[in-house]
Amino acid sequence: MSNIFSAIKISDHVYWVGAIDWTIRDFHGYTTPHGSTYNAYLIMADKITLIDTVKAPFKDEMLARIKSVVDPSQIKYIISNHSEMDHSGSLASVIDIIKPEKVFASSAGVRTLQNMFHDQQGILPVADGETLSLGNMDLTFMETRMIHWPDSMITYLAKDEILFSQDAFGMHFATLERFNDEIPQAALEYEAATYYANIVLPYSPIVLKALDKVKATGWSLKIIAPDHGPVWRKDLGRIIELYSKWASQKPEAKAVIVYATMWHSTEKMAGAIAEALARAGVKVKLFSMNETHRSEVVYEVLNAGALIVGSPTLNNNILPQMADVMTYLKGLKPANLIGAAFGSYGWSGESVRDLEEILGKMKVEIAAPSVSVKHVPDNAVLDKCREMGETIAAALLKKVNGAQ
Ligand code: FEO
Repeated sequence: MSNIFSAIKISDHVYWVGAIDWTIRDFHGYTTPHGSTYNAYLIMADKITLIDTVKAPFKDEMLARIKSVVDPSQIKYIISNHSEMDHSGSLASVIDIIKPEKVFASSAGVRTLQNMFHDQQGILPVADGETLSLGNMDLTFMETRMIHWPDSMITYLAKDEILFSQDAFGMHFATLERFNDEIPQAALEYEAATYYANIVLPYSPIVLKALDKVKATGWSLKIIAPDHGPVWRKDLGRIIELYSKWASQKPEAKAVIVYATMWHSTEKMAGAIAEALARAGVKVKLFSMNETHRSEVVYEVLNAGALIVGSPTLNNNILPQMADVMTYLKGLKPANLIGAAFGSYGWSGESVRDLEEILGKMKVEIAAPSVSVKHVPDNAVLDKCREMGETIAAALLKKVNGAQ
Protein backbone atom coordinates (compact mmCIF):
# COMPACT_ATOMS: atom_id res chain seq x y z
CA MET A 1 0.00 0.00 0.00
CA SER A 2 1.38 3.42 -0.87
CA ASN A 3 2.33 5.75 1.95
CA ILE A 4 0.18 8.90 2.03
CA PHE A 5 2.20 10.41 4.87
CA SER A 6 5.53 12.21 4.40
CA ALA A 7 8.06 13.72 6.74
CA ILE A 8 8.70 17.44 6.42
CA LYS A 9 12.27 18.68 6.60
CA ILE A 10 12.58 21.52 9.10
CA SER A 11 16.39 21.97 9.12
CA ASP A 12 19.57 20.39 7.72
CA HIS A 13 19.30 17.31 9.94
CA VAL A 14 15.75 17.33 11.35
CA TYR A 15 12.36 16.19 10.01
CA TRP A 16 8.88 16.67 11.44
CA VAL A 17 7.34 13.20 11.68
CA GLY A 18 4.27 13.92 13.79
CA ALA A 19 0.56 13.43 13.22
CA ILE A 20 -2.36 15.73 12.46
CA ASP A 21 -5.54 15.28 14.47
CA TRP A 22 -8.16 17.13 12.45
CA THR A 23 -11.11 15.99 14.53
CA ILE A 24 -10.25 16.37 18.22
CA ARG A 25 -12.56 18.91 19.86
CA ASP A 26 -11.84 18.46 23.56
CA PHE A 27 -8.60 18.31 25.52
CA HIS A 28 -9.69 17.47 29.08
CA GLY A 29 -12.10 20.37 29.24
CA TYR A 30 -10.32 22.74 26.83
CA THR A 31 -12.28 22.98 23.61
CA THR A 32 -10.13 22.64 20.50
CA PRO A 33 -12.33 23.75 17.60
CA HIS A 34 -9.42 23.69 15.15
CA GLY A 35 -8.02 20.25 16.02
CA SER A 36 -4.38 19.69 16.91
CA THR A 37 -1.10 18.11 15.90
CA TYR A 38 1.14 15.81 17.90
CA ASN A 39 4.63 16.71 16.79
CA ALA A 40 7.53 14.27 16.79
CA TYR A 41 10.93 15.02 15.30
CA LEU A 42 13.51 12.81 13.66
CA ILE A 43 17.17 13.84 13.95
CA MET A 44 19.31 12.29 11.22
CA ALA A 45 22.49 12.13 13.29
CA ASP A 46 25.02 9.28 13.46
CA LYS A 47 22.74 7.97 16.20
CA ILE A 48 19.35 8.59 14.59
CA THR A 49 17.10 10.02 17.28
CA LEU A 50 13.36 10.49 17.69
CA ILE A 51 12.16 13.38 19.87
CA ASP A 52 8.82 12.48 21.46
CA THR A 53 6.17 10.22 19.97
CA VAL A 54 2.44 10.75 19.35
CA LYS A 55 -0.94 9.90 20.85
CA ALA A 56 -1.59 6.15 20.65
CA PRO A 57 -4.08 6.10 17.71
CA PHE A 58 -1.61 8.07 15.57
CA LYS A 59 1.36 5.68 15.90
CA ASP A 60 1.04 4.35 12.34
CA GLU A 61 0.90 7.86 10.88
CA MET A 62 4.13 8.75 12.71
CA LEU A 63 5.85 5.53 11.63
CA ALA A 64 4.76 6.15 8.03
CA ARG A 65 6.25 9.63 8.10
CA ILE A 66 9.49 8.23 9.55
CA LYS A 67 9.56 5.55 6.81
CA SER A 68 9.50 8.28 4.17
CA VAL A 69 13.01 9.20 5.43
CA VAL A 70 14.52 6.10 7.01
CA ASP A 71 13.63 2.59 8.16
CA PRO A 72 12.33 3.10 11.73
CA SER A 73 14.54 0.24 12.94
CA GLN A 74 17.52 2.55 12.29
CA ILE A 75 16.43 4.84 15.15
CA LYS A 76 18.91 4.39 18.00
CA TYR A 77 17.64 6.84 20.62
CA ILE A 78 14.22 8.09 21.66
CA ILE A 79 13.91 11.19 23.85
CA SER A 80 10.70 11.69 25.84
CA ASN A 81 10.55 15.39 26.62
CA HIS A 82 7.07 15.10 28.13
CA SER A 83 5.22 11.99 29.23
CA GLU A 84 1.62 13.18 28.90
CA MET A 85 -0.16 10.61 26.77
CA ASP A 86 -0.61 12.83 23.71
CA HIS A 87 3.20 12.46 23.38
CA SER A 88 3.84 9.11 25.02
CA GLY A 89 0.68 7.13 24.30
CA SER A 90 2.41 5.25 21.50
CA LEU A 91 5.85 5.12 23.18
CA ALA A 92 5.70 1.59 24.57
CA SER A 93 4.54 0.05 21.28
CA VAL A 94 7.01 2.19 19.28
CA ILE A 95 9.83 0.90 21.53
CA ASP A 96 8.64 -2.65 20.83
CA ILE A 97 8.63 -2.03 17.07
CA ILE A 98 11.83 0.04 16.75
CA LYS A 99 13.87 -1.56 19.53
CA PRO A 100 16.08 1.50 20.03
CA GLU A 101 19.39 1.20 21.89
CA LYS A 102 18.29 3.70 24.50
CA VAL A 103 15.30 5.77 25.60
CA PHE A 104 15.82 8.89 27.69
CA ALA A 105 13.59 11.10 29.83
CA SER A 106 14.02 13.40 32.81
CA SER A 107 14.21 11.59 36.15
CA ALA A 108 10.58 12.55 36.87
CA GLY A 109 9.72 11.45 33.32
CA VAL A 110 11.23 8.00 33.94
CA ARG A 111 9.01 7.61 37.02
CA THR A 112 5.91 8.85 35.19
CA LEU A 113 6.50 6.53 32.23
CA GLN A 114 6.97 3.59 34.62
CA ASN A 115 3.63 4.47 36.22
CA MET A 116 2.01 4.54 32.79
CA PHE A 117 3.70 1.57 31.10
CA HIS A 118 4.28 -0.83 33.95
CA ASP A 119 6.13 -3.35 31.82
CA GLN A 120 8.42 -0.79 30.22
CA GLN A 121 11.72 -0.85 32.11
CA GLY A 122 15.09 0.57 31.20
CA ILE A 123 14.21 4.16 30.32
CA LEU A 124 17.26 6.18 31.31
CA PRO A 125 17.18 9.47 33.23
CA VAL A 126 19.06 12.51 31.94
CA ALA A 127 20.00 15.34 34.27
CA ASP A 128 19.28 19.03 33.94
CA GLY A 129 22.06 20.48 31.78
CA GLU A 130 23.33 17.06 30.65
CA THR A 131 24.62 16.66 27.10
CA LEU A 132 24.12 13.51 25.05
CA SER A 133 26.35 12.75 22.07
CA LEU A 134 24.60 11.54 18.92
CA GLY A 135 28.01 11.02 17.29
CA ASN A 136 28.30 13.96 14.93
CA MET A 137 26.09 16.29 17.02
CA ASP A 138 24.96 16.77 20.61
CA LEU A 139 21.69 17.22 22.46
CA THR A 140 21.50 19.23 25.68
CA PHE A 141 18.61 18.79 28.13
CA MET A 142 17.01 21.34 30.42
CA GLU A 143 14.39 20.45 32.99
CA THR A 144 11.30 22.67 32.88
CA ARG A 145 9.44 21.11 35.80
CA MET A 146 5.77 22.06 36.00
CA ILE A 147 5.66 23.53 32.51
CA HIS A 148 3.36 21.93 32.66
CA TRP A 149 4.01 18.51 34.28
CA PRO A 150 6.71 17.54 36.80
CA ASP A 151 8.54 15.53 34.12
CA SER A 152 8.69 18.29 31.48
CA MET A 153 12.02 19.04 29.87
CA ILE A 154 13.23 20.74 26.71
CA THR A 155 16.03 19.62 24.42
CA TYR A 156 18.48 21.72 22.42
CA LEU A 157 20.22 20.62 19.23
CA ALA A 158 23.15 23.01 18.83
CA LYS A 159 24.09 21.73 15.36
CA ASP A 160 20.86 23.07 13.81
CA GLU A 161 20.11 25.62 16.56
CA ILE A 162 16.75 24.01 17.36
CA LEU A 163 14.96 24.02 20.69
CA PHE A 164 12.51 21.13 21.06
CA SER A 165 10.19 22.81 23.53
CA GLN A 166 7.50 20.11 24.12
CA ASP A 167 4.17 21.79 25.01
CA ALA A 168 5.71 25.26 25.49
CA PHE A 169 5.12 27.62 22.54
CA GLY A 170 2.59 25.12 21.17
CA MET A 171 -1.04 25.43 20.13
CA HIS A 172 -3.93 23.16 19.26
CA PHE A 173 -4.16 23.99 15.58
CA ALA A 174 -4.41 21.33 12.88
CA THR A 175 -2.77 22.53 9.67
CA LEU A 176 -0.86 21.07 6.77
CA GLU A 177 1.30 24.19 6.86
CA ARG A 178 4.16 23.24 9.13
CA PHE A 179 5.83 26.63 9.75
CA ASN A 180 4.64 29.76 11.50
CA ASP A 181 5.42 32.02 8.54
CA GLU A 182 2.90 30.06 6.41
CA ILE A 183 -0.01 30.94 8.73
CA PRO A 184 -1.55 34.39 9.38
CA GLN A 185 0.03 35.97 12.46
CA ALA A 186 -3.33 36.87 14.05
CA ALA A 187 -4.47 33.23 13.92
CA LEU A 188 -1.17 32.07 15.44
CA GLU A 189 -1.35 34.57 18.27
CA TYR A 190 -4.98 33.71 19.04
CA GLU A 191 -4.30 29.96 19.11
CA ALA A 192 -1.07 30.32 21.11
CA ALA A 193 -2.78 32.61 23.65
CA THR A 194 -5.74 30.25 23.97
CA TYR A 195 -3.34 27.36 24.55
CA TYR A 196 -1.37 29.35 27.11
CA ALA A 197 -4.53 30.39 28.97
CA ASN A 198 -6.01 26.89 29.06
CA ILE A 199 -2.85 24.88 29.77
CA VAL A 200 0.13 26.93 30.93
CA LEU A 201 -1.43 29.80 32.90
CA PRO A 202 -1.21 28.23 36.41
CA TYR A 203 2.54 27.87 35.99
CA SER A 204 3.22 31.46 34.91
CA PRO A 205 5.76 32.25 37.68
CA ILE A 206 7.74 29.15 36.61
CA VAL A 207 7.52 30.21 32.96
CA LEU A 208 9.20 33.53 33.77
CA LYS A 209 12.06 31.68 35.52
CA ALA A 210 12.38 29.20 32.63
CA LEU A 211 12.58 32.02 30.08
CA ASP A 212 15.46 33.50 32.10
CA LYS A 213 17.10 30.09 32.39
CA VAL A 214 17.01 29.57 28.62
CA LYS A 215 18.30 33.10 28.01
CA ALA A 216 21.20 32.49 30.41
CA THR A 217 22.36 29.47 28.36
CA GLY A 218 23.25 31.76 25.45
CA TRP A 219 21.75 29.17 23.09
CA SER A 220 21.45 30.51 19.59
CA LEU A 221 17.94 29.75 18.30
CA LYS A 222 16.96 29.42 14.65
CA ILE A 223 13.95 27.19 15.27
CA ILE A 224 11.59 26.42 18.13
CA ALA A 225 9.94 23.05 17.58
CA PRO A 226 7.00 22.51 19.96
CA ASP A 227 4.91 19.36 20.44
CA HIS A 228 1.72 20.97 19.04
CA GLY A 229 1.03 23.29 16.14
CA PRO A 230 3.47 24.91 13.73
CA VAL A 231 7.25 25.05 13.99
CA TRP A 232 8.52 28.56 14.71
CA ARG A 233 11.23 29.52 12.22
CA LYS A 234 10.52 33.24 11.66
CA ASP A 235 10.46 36.02 14.23
CA LEU A 236 11.04 33.76 17.24
CA GLY A 237 11.34 36.87 19.38
CA ARG A 238 7.61 37.55 19.01
CA ILE A 239 6.38 34.29 20.59
CA ILE A 240 9.03 34.53 23.32
CA GLU A 241 7.90 38.11 24.01
CA LEU A 242 4.24 36.98 24.15
CA TYR A 243 5.09 34.21 26.63
CA SER A 244 6.86 36.75 28.78
CA LYS A 245 3.82 39.06 28.62
CA TRP A 246 1.26 36.33 29.36
CA ALA A 247 3.36 34.93 32.19
CA SER A 248 3.77 38.33 33.82
CA GLN A 249 -0.08 38.59 34.08
CA LYS A 250 0.05 42.36 34.18
CA PRO A 251 -3.59 43.50 34.33
CA GLU A 252 -4.98 45.64 31.52
CA ALA A 253 -7.97 48.01 31.58
CA LYS A 254 -10.29 45.20 30.62
CA ALA A 255 -13.10 43.51 32.53
CA VAL A 256 -14.58 40.09 31.87
CA ILE A 257 -18.17 39.61 33.00
CA VAL A 258 -19.27 36.01 33.25
CA TYR A 259 -22.82 35.09 34.17
CA ALA A 260 -25.58 32.56 33.69
CA THR A 261 -29.27 33.37 33.74
CA MET A 262 -32.63 31.64 34.25
CA TRP A 263 -35.25 34.30 33.44
CA HIS A 264 -32.96 37.14 32.23
CA SER A 265 -32.76 39.02 35.55
CA THR A 266 -29.06 38.27 36.14
CA GLU A 267 -28.54 38.99 32.44
CA LYS A 268 -30.06 42.50 32.79
CA MET A 269 -27.77 43.15 35.75
CA ALA A 270 -24.74 42.02 33.72
CA GLY A 271 -25.72 44.41 30.94
CA ALA A 272 -25.97 47.38 33.31
CA ILE A 273 -22.56 46.62 34.85
CA ALA A 274 -21.02 46.27 31.37
CA GLU A 275 -22.40 49.59 30.10
CA ALA A 276 -21.06 51.45 33.14
CA LEU A 277 -17.61 49.89 32.81
CA ALA A 278 -17.42 50.76 29.12
CA ARG A 279 -18.57 54.37 29.73
CA ALA A 280 -15.77 54.69 32.28
CA GLY A 281 -13.18 53.67 29.69
CA VAL A 282 -12.74 49.96 30.45
CA LYS A 283 -12.83 47.38 27.68
CA VAL A 284 -15.53 44.79 28.43
CA LYS A 285 -16.07 41.19 27.40
CA LEU A 286 -19.44 39.79 28.41
CA PHE A 287 -20.14 36.06 28.44
CA SER A 288 -23.36 34.20 29.10
CA MET A 289 -22.38 30.72 30.22
CA ASN A 290 -25.73 29.55 28.86
CA GLU A 291 -24.07 29.82 25.45
CA THR A 292 -20.29 30.05 25.94
CA HIS A 293 -17.56 27.46 26.37
CA ARG A 294 -15.27 27.90 29.38
CA SER A 295 -12.14 27.95 27.17
CA GLU A 296 -13.28 31.19 25.51
CA VAL A 297 -13.65 32.86 28.90
CA VAL A 298 -10.14 31.92 30.00
CA TYR A 299 -8.69 33.33 26.78
CA GLU A 300 -10.25 36.71 27.59
CA VAL A 301 -9.24 36.56 31.27
CA LEU A 302 -5.57 36.14 30.21
CA ASN A 303 -5.01 39.89 29.91
CA ALA A 304 -7.96 41.19 31.96
CA GLY A 305 -7.76 43.16 35.18
CA ALA A 306 -11.27 42.48 36.48
CA LEU A 307 -13.49 39.42 36.72
CA ILE A 308 -17.14 40.06 37.60
CA VAL A 309 -19.36 37.04 38.04
CA GLY A 310 -23.13 36.59 38.27
CA SER A 311 -25.57 33.80 38.91
CA PRO A 312 -29.13 33.36 40.06
CA THR A 313 -29.75 30.93 42.91
CA LEU A 314 -30.97 27.48 41.90
CA ASN A 315 -31.69 24.93 44.65
CA ASN A 316 -29.53 26.88 47.14
CA ASN A 317 -26.60 26.94 44.69
CA ILE A 318 -25.12 28.82 41.79
CA LEU A 319 -26.23 27.59 38.37
CA PRO A 320 -24.28 24.48 37.26
CA GLN A 321 -22.82 26.23 34.22
CA MET A 322 -21.35 28.88 36.57
CA ALA A 323 -19.98 26.15 38.86
CA ASP A 324 -18.31 24.69 35.77
CA VAL A 325 -16.56 27.87 34.66
CA MET A 326 -15.63 28.92 38.21
CA THR A 327 -14.04 25.52 38.89
CA TYR A 328 -12.10 25.77 35.64
CA LEU A 329 -10.98 29.35 36.31
CA LYS A 330 -9.95 28.58 39.89
CA GLY A 331 -7.71 25.76 38.70
CA LEU A 332 -6.02 27.95 36.12
CA LYS A 333 -5.06 30.51 38.79
CA PRO A 334 -5.36 33.81 36.92
CA ALA A 335 -3.57 36.45 39.02
CA ASN A 336 -3.84 40.18 39.77
CA LEU A 337 -7.60 40.43 39.34
CA ILE A 338 -10.16 42.57 41.09
CA GLY A 339 -13.83 41.65 40.94
CA ALA A 340 -17.34 41.43 42.35
CA ALA A 341 -20.44 39.22 42.31
CA PHE A 342 -24.09 39.77 41.44
CA GLY A 343 -27.27 37.82 40.78
CA SER A 344 -30.98 37.36 41.24
CA TYR A 345 -32.87 34.93 43.45
CA GLY A 346 -36.39 33.81 44.29
CA TRP A 347 -36.26 33.01 48.02
CA SER A 348 -33.03 31.68 49.60
CA GLY A 349 -30.43 33.66 47.59
CA GLU A 350 -27.08 31.91 48.28
CA SER A 351 -25.56 32.42 44.82
CA VAL A 352 -23.90 35.80 45.31
CA ARG A 353 -22.34 34.76 48.62
CA ASP A 354 -21.09 31.53 47.03
CA LEU A 355 -19.61 33.37 44.07
CA GLU A 356 -17.80 35.81 46.37
CA GLU A 357 -16.42 32.86 48.29
CA ILE A 358 -15.02 31.33 45.10
CA LEU A 359 -13.54 34.68 44.06
CA GLY A 360 -11.88 34.81 47.49
CA LYS A 361 -10.36 31.36 46.96
CA MET A 362 -9.08 32.61 43.60
CA LYS A 363 -7.44 35.55 45.39
CA VAL A 364 -9.56 37.99 43.38
CA GLU A 365 -9.75 41.24 45.34
CA ILE A 366 -13.41 42.15 45.92
CA ALA A 367 -13.49 45.76 44.74
CA ALA A 368 -17.23 46.57 44.93
CA PRO A 369 -20.18 45.51 47.10
CA SER A 370 -22.17 42.65 45.64
CA VAL A 371 -25.64 43.27 44.20
CA SER A 372 -28.48 40.80 44.52
CA VAL A 373 -32.16 41.15 43.71
CA LYS A 374 -35.31 39.21 44.44
CA HIS A 375 -36.76 38.07 41.10
CA VAL A 376 -36.50 41.01 38.65
CA PRO A 377 -34.26 44.10 38.89
CA ASP A 378 -36.01 47.49 38.92
CA ASN A 379 -34.32 50.80 38.10
CA ALA A 380 -32.95 51.15 41.63
CA VAL A 381 -31.23 47.76 41.40
CA LEU A 382 -29.92 48.52 37.93
CA ASP A 383 -28.50 51.77 39.35
CA LYS A 384 -26.65 49.68 41.95
CA CYS A 385 -25.28 47.54 39.11
CA ARG A 386 -24.14 50.68 37.29
CA GLU A 387 -22.46 51.79 40.51
CA MET A 388 -20.71 48.46 40.70
CA GLY A 389 -19.40 49.01 37.17
CA GLU A 390 -18.21 52.53 37.98
CA THR A 391 -16.51 51.42 41.20
CA ILE A 392 -14.71 48.54 39.52
CA ALA A 393 -13.70 50.78 36.61
CA ALA A 394 -12.24 53.42 38.94
CA ALA A 395 -10.31 50.81 40.94
CA LEU A 396 -9.05 49.07 37.81
CA LEU A 397 -7.95 52.24 36.01
CA LYS A 398 -6.16 53.39 39.16
CA LYS A 399 -4.41 50.02 39.42
CA VAL A 400 -3.46 49.87 35.73
CA ASN A 401 -2.33 53.48 35.48
CA GLY A 402 -0.53 53.25 38.81
CA ALA A 403 1.37 50.22 37.54
CA GLN A 404 2.65 52.04 34.44
FE1 FEO B 1 0.68 18.07 24.85
FE2 FEO B 1 1.01 18.19 28.18
O1 FEO B 1 0.73 17.37 26.56
